[in-house]
Amino acid sequence: MVIYKTKNYTDMSRKAANIISAQVIMKPDCVLGLATGSSPLGTYKQLIDWYQTGDLDFSKVSSVNLDEYRGLSPEHEQSYRYFMNTNFFDHINIDKSRTFVPDGLTSDVERFCKDYDRLIEEVGGVDLQLLGLGHNGHIGFNEPSDAFPRNTHCVDLTPSTIDANKRFFDSEEDVPRQALTMGIRNIMMAKKIVVVVSGEDKGEALREVVCGPITPKVPGSILQLHPDVTIIADEAALSKM
Ligand code: F6R
Repeated sequence: MVIYKTKNYTDMSRKAANIISAQVIMKPDCVLGLATGSSPLGTYKQLIDWYQTGDLDFSKVSSVNLDEYRGLSPEHEQSYRYFMNTNFFDHINIDKSRTFVPDGLTSDVERFCKDYDRLIEEVGGVDLQLLGLGHNGHIGFNEPSDAFPRNTHCVDLTPSTIDANKRFFDSEEDVPRQALTMGIRNIMMAKKIVVVVSGEDKGEALREVVCGPITPKVPGSILQLHPDVTIIADEAALSKM
């Protein structure tokens, strides 16, 4: 693991965007694994800026997203498809037909999950996976549990995650109780992983991910076993180390 300490969220975002830019420049037809949420938002903004100044070309890039709420349509303002379109894809020249987000409305979850695993393989596997970190140590929506889930699956969100995400909804009752998410195997198969972590409230989770035992109770701790993980964290997030 390589850990970069940055002054603040803006610096964290710029550094992550730098690494993603390098990936896109070195391999224009790369596959990016993408996350939603507050953590990568600044990274996407920075990448959009560099695209607009002509420094980046996403025309050959494909992407696969980590997760999606179950029951939300792509048009729902809190769906992760909507998030990706409005915060990133609509502002760059990526071919949207080559951007993949799990289908929150699927009626056959088991089949969909198998198809999503296959899709990740068919696009050639993820070259660079961008991750945020949950307060409970989750990555994607792989919540703390007794075993590491391997593949794409449907998950019951924990009270901690529902509480953390209610800020985006009118009320806590509106937060979906389930999500579809890539599993730990899918994430660990990425050739390179970049984790962005900001804020003191993530400090404890980050400490456990980096320094704690490898356990499914802290799903992100599995990253200790990946050969190419870069954590970019601001001073506040590193304050508990
Ligand atoms: C989002 C995702 C989640 C978030 C995590 C942190 O696609 O997979 O694991 O990365 O919940 O969320 P933020 O960045 O909003 O604190």
